[in-house]
Amino acid sequence: MVRRTILAALVVLSVLFVLLAVLLSAWWWIAAAILLALLLLGIWDVLQRHHSVLRNYPVLGHLRYMLEKIRPEMQQYFIERNVDGRPFDRDTRSLIYERAKGIAGEKAFGTERDVNEIGYEYLIHSTTPIRQPSEPARVRIGNDQCAHPYEMAMLNVSAMSFGALSANAVCAMNKGAAIGGFAQDTGEGGLTKYHLEHGGDLVWEIGSGYSAHAPKTAASTRRCLPTSLRTTRSGACR
Ligand SMILES: Cc1cc2nc3c(=O)[nH]c(=O)nc-3n(C[C@H](O)[C@H](O)[C@H](O)COP(=O)(O)O)c2cc1C
Repeated sequence: MVRRTILAALVVLSVLFVLLAVLLSAWWWIAAAILLALLLLGIWDVLQRHHSVLRNYPVLGHLRYMLEKIRPEMQQYFIERNVDGRPFDRDTRSLIYERAKGIAGEKAFGTERDVNEIGYEYLIHSTTPIRQPSEPARVRIGNDQCAHPYEMAMLNVSAMSFGALSANAVCAMNKGAAIGGFAQDTGEGGLTKYHLEHGGDLVWEIGSGYSAHAPKTAASTRRCLPTSLRTTRSGACR
């Protein structure tokens, strides 16, 4: 019903504008041409079999696709709040843009977030703190069949490739791991001498193999590993 009405309206208007062009002024040909183009589009929409929206709502259905195309922009400019976007909200992005351009990068104290909303997470001091454990909580990696099971701390340094950090950062994290009794993951950037300097436990990330661990390299490097790599809680970095 709707499609017939739309097509009928287009036919009537096209005929009307053609008549006006013939009888009154050649300027009406512009309107007539637009209407005729829309009429052809409408006929095409009704005949095609890929999009039911266009088949049911010829010509008008295209509005839906056009709006869908600018949906992300509408969402970002008109709907999204400053703290909504993921993985980085607008506030964070603006701060990064400003600092990258060397303009104001400072943030005033205070937050725009609703710290009282349900689900807002924060840390508070305990009024009755428990005694700090002498050893961090651990979980065993490897069962009875494993020659060198590893008692891994529950909190460790997550994988960050060397190239994303620096020698100093890698050293500092490894020293922290050595002092705290937890492990540092090398990330995809390979195992460097900086990872070995302080003797902190290591998780050697061999996948994805993009940066430094093509299968051949991994095998040959492993043979060359110094014994210092075999840490007290051996198994993590072999
Ligand atoms: C600078 C940087 C480098 C990273 N490099 C790696 C990497 O090489 N391999 C990997 O598996 N994950 C890498 N990650 C991901 C982290 O290991 C971790 O999964 C991610 O940051 C999420 O943890 P978070 O919420 O504590 O930051 C990297 C993260 C950062 C911030």
